[in-house]
Amino acid sequence: MNHQPADPVLRIVAGSKIYGGIHAIDSVDFDLLPGEIHAVLGENGAGKSTMCKAISGAILLSSGDYFLGGRKVSFASPGEALKSGVAMVYQETSLVPSMTVAQNLELGMEKLFTVYRKINIAAQQSQQALNFNVEPLALVETLGTAKRQMVEIARAVRHKARVIIFDEPTASLTPEEIQHLFHLLRSLRAQGVGIIFISHAIEEALNIADRITVLRDGKLVHTGPAAELDRPAVVRMMVGRDVATSHYGEVETDGASEDVVAPKKDRRRVLAVENVTMGSVVKNMSFSVYEGEVVGVAGLVGSGRTEIAHIICGARKRNFLRGGLIYLNGKPIRYRVPRQAVRDGIVYITEDRKLDGFFETMTADDNIYLGYLASPKGKRALFSARQRKVVSDRWVKALSISALKRSLKIIEYSGGNQQKVVVAKSLAQDPSVVIFDEPTRGVDVGAIPQIHAAIRSLAAQGKAVIVISSYLPEILAISDRILVARGGRIAEEMSAAQATEEKIMYAAIH
Ligand SMILES: Nc1ncnc2c1ncn2[C@@H]1O[C@H](COP(=O)(O)OP(=O)(O)OP(=O)(O)O)[C@@H](O)[C@H]1O
Ligand SMILES: [Mg+2]
Repeated sequence: MNHQPADPVLRIVAGSKIYGGIHAIDSVDFDLLPGEIHAVLGENGAGKSTMCKAISGAILLSSGDYFLGGRKVSFASPGEALKSGVAMVYQETSLVPSMTVAQNLELGMEKLFTVYRKINIAAQQSQQALNFNVEPLALVETLGTAKRQMVEIARAVRHKARVIIFDEPTASLTPEEIQHLFHLLRSLRAQGVGIIFISHAIEEALNIADRITVLRDGKLVHTGPAAELDRPAVVRMMVGRDVATSHYGEVETDGASEDVVAPKKDRRRVLAVENVTMGSVVKNMSFSVYEGEVVGVAGLVGSGRTEIAHIICGARKRNFLRGGLIYLNGKPIRYRVPRQAVRDGIVYITEDRKLDGFFETMTADDNIYLGYLASPKGKRALFSARQRKVVSDRWVKALSISALKRSLKIIEYSGGNQQKVVVAKSLAQDPSVVIFDEPTRGVDVGAIPQIHAAIRSLAAQGKAVIVISSYLPEILAISDRILVARGGRIAEEMSAAQATEEKIMYAAIH
């Protein structure tokens, strides 16, 4: 960071945003210096995205002032903000999937007659400057998360943004992609760009940021140099209390722990995957899951771990010939659509909540109740508003789902709270086999132990649980048994007692 105190490139003074009479952000004073990375941290629903949407022109402040380069501004749209040099890379990307990379880079800059050849060349140049390699003529819908993000960053740079906001940019990236992104953030900082960085990975923020701002319940509780803070201090400010991280590294031993440690031969094998093959991604994969256990699946992206989950729940097909077998309670299964798997009590809770996680124009209560109606008990039930309240109350409490108002549509919930509703809806289905894919992505540090407790309690009720996660402390915290996928197979199996992060990493790579 500059030693000379520079004038802030942007300043929010007493900024508030009110929805339905309630403050999403409340009289926030925030500033950003040129050439600084400023992390914004806080629990799910604290107001981080709301503040940044106001800065980027996606919403208007209800009250308060907004200065850009000392000049008072008010942007009616993100396009207007972009023209003044303020860009936002969203929690969910804002590119147009059916257009090419080059066309997306040019969005908002189009002349009346857009000359395609010219914009392709311009796209190539701006990407080269950033050391990106994304084919300008590729359709955005064919790109993975990291590449889409690169395109958004390239677009910001192309518009000569002085301020770039990143809303949870690392949530869906691999460790290598995160390193690449950080490298890029540092080089943008060196060029004098002011960067706002939202993340739930506190270590990451401490590591990359010059300053840190913490929001709690819409209020700004702290702004100061990152070097003066550590993780416990940040967590205390975020949550307003100390958070039990004791869930990590140990398995809860209350309740049904007897079942958990019982020898395998006494327990029923619920799911058996035998030599399953799909294209070149899953190759002869075999493993079993028993009742009452949580099996953690670790592995790099591309190791076949997510694909095997898709195959089990009917979202993808095995090879036609020699595709292997999958047994549920001893009977072979082969689903053509996920609905058939749900009917048999297999539920897949995906990391991609927008895709098939929930009905976005319905309330959280309705989403959770729909889950319940799909459960064996719920199928025989008639619609009942009272029942809906009982069921949703239970899950809202168990996972601390929160919003300014319970009755909001689910798209009006914060990102992390949407994820919790997805989990609640699936658990309300009372499944017998549950597969979680990155269950705590985007969830704040305070709520992660609650999701973990919900997962453990499924096992305690005798269900077979699979947790796919890239976050090794999570795998270690909740698994009874750990499988490491590599190159489309299960490369290694270890008990929770034997496993360490190093051993898992080693097995995932070698
Ligand atoms: N369009 C809207 N209508 C009503 N309430 C909204 C709307 N958008 C956001 N909110 C509410 O504002 C509050 C702050 O949400 P925001 O998305 O800023 O949280 P966040 O800090 O980004 O959380 P997360 O870490 O979960 O992404 C939440 O309680 C949310 O429900
Ligand atoms: Mg958010």
